[in-house]
Amino acid sequence: MSKLADPCTSTYHAVIAGYGASVPEKVLTNDELSRIVDTNDEWITTRTGIKTRHITTDDETTALLATNAAKKALKTANLKAKDLDLIIVATITPEMVFPSTASFVQRAIGAKNAWVFDLAAACSGFVYALSIVQQFMETGRMENALVIGAETLTKITNYKDRKSCILFGDGAGAVVLQRANDGRRGIIYSTNYSEGDRWQALNCQAFGSRHPAKKELDDPDKIYMDINGREVYQQAIRRIVETVEECLDQCRLTTDDVKMIIPHQMNARIIESAAKRLKLPPEKVFLNIAEYGNTSAASIPIAFDQCARTGKIERGDIIILVAFGAGLTWAANVIEF
Ligand code: UT7
Repeated sequence: MSKLADPCTSTYHAVIAGYGASVPEKVLTNDELSRIVDTNDEWITTRTGIKTRHITTDDETTALLATNAAKKALKTANLKAKDLDLIIVATITPEMVFPSTASFVQRAIGAKNAWVFDLAAACSGFVYALSIVQQFMETGRMENALVIGAETLTKITNYKDRKSCILFGDGAGAVVLQRANDGRRGIIYSTNYSEGDRWQALNCQAFGSRHPAKKELDDPDKIYMDINGREVYQQAIRRIVETVEECLDQCRLTTDDVKMIIPHQMNARIIESAAKRLKLPPEKVFLNIAEYGNTSAASIPIAFDQCARTGKIERGDIIILVAFGAGLTWAANVIEF
């Protein structure tokens, strides 16, 4: 028995009852990328840990991936779509400007009784969304919710920019959350942060109100993501370490009590540096970036699905999800699975 303190005093918790993921079939390897830009497998592997990423075709969209992941999550939860009260899709690459990607998912799965919306917090979106659901379930206002992280980042990736195009892939992951009164099982603690002063570190400027679609762009590359890799790198390590330390402290845990930390898959070197500072052994820090690259809001639920399906995490285990991304934003959830 761990010595976990449960900072949540409510009767109910939000329990993860189902999970699923969906990635496009098409794969882009480092060698293929090195035929598009001036890069090579050795540089990408040593600097990022990425070997391949799954990429969408023109016909594959964010709502399609989100819907496929959602169906799998509902199946493992053994829940009907009509019983969902809420759907949140965390994404920065939505189906269209409006309506929300969540509207398309609702329609596709027949979740007629849910209210639905998208959440734009970049790579932290999925973790932010879990903390929202946590609140609604702890107050008893909601029974069943579906949270999806879904991205098609390759559609806003500049394949002329070698510093960014090597990083990103497409995919979706989903979880079903259910209100339960089962000891402390569920989401135990969530923490969320933002720092708008650093918006320039990671952005995609077209076609919002500052650069509307009707107006010619001063720089045609504004339709793509732009990243300041070094700044993000340094901030990410700092914030991941601080946030995990806060989770351990607030829940009175040591790293021995934690079965697995599932971090946003942004760069293996960032994750490994943070893990080293936290004195976490490699087997407690999940990494699948080699296959998927960085899929922003989708990366944690894709990783969660993989951990749950392969038995790396089991019922009763304490896990920490920790994310960092554009905004800047960063966040974490402590969960008893
Ligand atoms: O989820 C949030 C989004 N993720 C991020 O924003 C990523 C965070 N940052 C990173 O992952 C890393 O900073 C990068 C992978 C983007 C870059 O790695 P780095 O170790 O920080 O490299 P650097 O930018 O300091 O560049 C080192 C060298 C430069 O050459 P010079 O100036 O030393 O001659 C770059 O031009 O590596 C060069 N370089 C490349 N070489 C081969 C940059 N990209 C590449 C490339 N292939 N793809």
